[in-house]
Amino acid sequence: MKYIEVENYAEMSKKGAALIAAEIVSKEGPVLGLATGSTPVGIYKQLIEWFNEGKLDFSGVTSVNLDEYLGLDGTNPQSYRYFMNDNLFDHINIDKSRTYVPSGIAADLAAEGEAYDKLIKSLGGIDIQLLGIGEDGHIGFNEPDECFTGATHVVDLDESTIEANARFFDSIDDVPRKAITMGMASIMQAKKVLLVANGPKKYDIIQKAFFGPITPKVPASILQLHGDLTVIYSKN
Ligand code: F6R
Repeated sequence: MKYIEVENYAEMSKKGAALIAAEIVSKEGPVLGLATGSTPVGIYKQLIEWFNEGKLDFSGVTSVNLDEYLGLDGTNPQSYRYFMNDNLFDHINIDKSRTYVPSGIAADLAAEGEAYDKLIKSLGGIDIQLLGIGEDGHIGFNEPDECFTGATHVVDLDESTIEANARFFDSIDDVPRKAITMGMASIMQAKKVLLVANGPKKYDIIQKAFFGPITPKVPASILQLHGDLTVIYSKN
């Protein structure tokens, strides 16, 4: 593991974006695993800036996102599909038909999960997976549990996650209680993993996840077993 501590969010975002940009410029048809939430927004802004300066070309890029709330379609501003369009895809020259987010409105969610894992395999896996981390240690929406789950699956969100994500909704009652998330297999099989976190609120979980025991009670701790993991933590 490469653990990098930086002073502020801007520095974290620039370093994170540089690692993703390196994949884009060095690989033909790179597959980016992307995340939502507040943490990666600065990385997306930096990537957009480099695109506007003519330094990055996204025309050959494919993306697969980690997760989606159940019951929200892509036109809903709270959905993760909408978030990705709004924070990244609408501002770069990526072919939107090659940007994938699991569907939270599929009639058969088990089949959706299976199809998502097959899709990732058919793309040759993920070149670099970007992750945030929940204060309870979740990655994607893999919440603390008795065991790690490999496949893309439906989860009940923890109360702490619902509370943490209420800031994106009008009221906590509007936060969906379930989500569909990529499981640990696709994440662990990504060739590179980049996890970013910022602020004092994330300090304890970063210590537990990367310097404590590997346990499904702290889902991100499994990443200690990944062969090419970079963690960037910004104190502020
Ligand atoms: C988002 C995701 C989540 C977030 C995590 C941290 O796609 O999978 O695991 O990365 O909840 O969220 P923020 O960055 O808002 O603190």
